[in-house]
Amino acid sequence: MNKKTYFLLSGSLILALAGSGNLHAAIDDADAEKLLKDSKCLKCHDVEKTKKGKPYKKIAAEYKGKANAMAELTKHVTEPNQVEVEGEKVDHGTVKTRDAARITNLIEWILAR
Ligand code: HEC
Repeated sequence: MNKKTYFLLSGSLILALAGSGNLHAAIDDADAEKLLKDSKCLKCHDVEKTKKGKPYKKIAAEYKGKANAMAELTKHVTEPNQVEVEGEKVDHGTVKTRDAARITNLIEWILAR
């Protein structure tokens, strides 16, 4: 392989790698925020402040880089479960949609805080 071919090949490899990042759809902030509002999540969670539940920023930090983050958090907001608020067990809310794309968008939004 001569030098010129080598540069052409490595150039297209870099383009291919850079391009693959675009396969991932951008997060829809407005839809995530609407779903949080409609599902009454904001009653207990804020992005920055601790309310009854911890802030989404903290959740994002805890799950950063974890391979199971999507699966765990999706389960947490779609299947009924209990959490502790001021020493008492209460039902944790679930998202008011069954649209998997909207739920995925919401979890990605939380993880991006
Ligand atoms: C009654 C108050 C309350 C409501 C309503 C509520 N949460 Fe929570 N949430 C909590 C508490 C308490 C925890 C447990 C951890 C903590 O201390 O924040 C929690 C944990 C979480 C976690 C982290 C789970 C983990 O494994 O660390 C996520 C994500 C979450 N909530 C999202 C949501 C979403 C989305 C909604 C709306 C569908 C919602 N929460 C509604 C109180 C609430």
